[in-house]
Amino acid sequence: MILVTGGAGFIGGNFVLDWLTGSSEPVVNLDKLTYAGNLDTLVSLKGDARHTFVQGDIGDSALVGELLARHKPRAVINFAAESHVDRSIHGPEDFIQTNVLGTFRLLEAVRQYWSALTATDKDAFRFLHVSTDEVYGSLSKTDPAYEPNSPYSASKAASDHLVRAWHHTYGLPVVTTNCSNNYGPYHFPEKLIPLMIVNALAGKPLPVYGDGMQIRDWLYVKDHCSAIRRVLEAGRLGETYNVGGWNEKPNIDIVHTVCALLDELRPKAEGSQYATQITYVTDRPGHDRRYAIDARKLEAELGWKPAETFETGIRKTVQWYLDNPQWVANVQSGAYREWVGKQYGAER
Ligand code: NAD
Ligand code: TYD
Repeated sequence: MILVTGGAGFIGGNFVLDWLTGSSEPVVNLDKLTYAGNLDTLVSLKGDARHTFVQGDIGDSALVGELLARHKPRAVINFAAESHVDRSIHGPEDFIQTNVLGTFRLLEAVRQYWSALTATDKDAFRFLHVSTDEVYGSLSKTDPAYEPNSPYSASKAASDHLVRAWHHTYGLPVVTTNCSNNYGPYHFPEKLIPLMIVNALAGKPLPVYGDGMQIRDWLYVKDHCSAIRRVLEAGRLGETYNVGGWNEKPNIDIVHTVCALLDELRPKAEGSQYATQITYVTDRPGHDRRYAIDARKLEAELGWKPAETFETGIRKTVQWYLDNPQWVANVQSGAYREWVGKQYGAER
């Protein structure tokens, strides 16, 4: 039995679906179901006795303690977080609540549970914390850095430090992954790639921040999931593993790739190209210029390799959005539209 937090979100949802495809080991899935959590993602697991979904907060110590005592997981994998940089700029408080305080409370509940295990179970137990390359900040070509710049990345860095401290101070068996930008199925359409696909199909502008030359390093979500499984299996305690696909690309190239795939797979009836919808807009405040990940430690130590290239992964992703308009319509209703309306005062 494993306990996954945030398993109704983008990466956690993909992880749970992949896990239960390859394993008979059951999953307890604790998710608060914020705007970013969608049970639609898990609909194929309806009635599957290996999956127990619990709606709740990682910061609810009593609930987490009760779940741990009842299900006795051999591992906790923490995906739960507020994850969108733009939201963290407009309203950082939720990020501190969940990413910092929530992770702290989760660590404490897990430590209490872990302390009472038998010596063998204690040794075998793992707390895997899922984090981001954004904690490193904006990278120059030469200097490695650790400069979390946005409220989101600062809150994730805080959580990474707490996880590290719970290992060094209390001996909790932790491993942390810091991954680059993910893309793939079930990605909430407020992040760059799904937003561009969904807006393109709806005939809306494709908002590119600033000059569009910011660089992100992209990894297909299922490759992130396989890396997490590998680190869970064989990662060294207290270590941090960078996860990335060696796919650094400027945003504008990503947008053009999405447009070209849509031109091929769903050409517009009137014959114009999707790229004509590209609109340069005001830059994000404090926008990090470049993220990049050096994944050599994970590759050399644990033999992990991504299965997808950017070309194969992005094609699968665009096709998935074309095949799943109902998922998009469902997640875009209600709370999401309200938030966008409040922040931008207009349809995006
Ligand atoms: P997401 O926003 O799609 O999903 C987050 C999930 O956590 C949602 O289901 C939400 O309901 C749940 N959640 C939020 N607050 C909660 C709380 N207090 N208690 C319980 N559940 C809560 O995010 P994602 O993109 O799937 O990211 C998952 C994790 O991976 C995050 O920790 C993020 O920092 C990290 N990460 C993301 C990326 C990326 O490119 N998306 C890259 C590297 C690391
Ligand atoms: P995003 O998907 O929000 O991920 P992150 O900020 O965590 O890297 O954004 C990816 C890049 O795309 C980032 O440089 C900001 C940019 N971007 C746009 O240009 N337009 C958009 O509408 C969005 C959402 C992002």
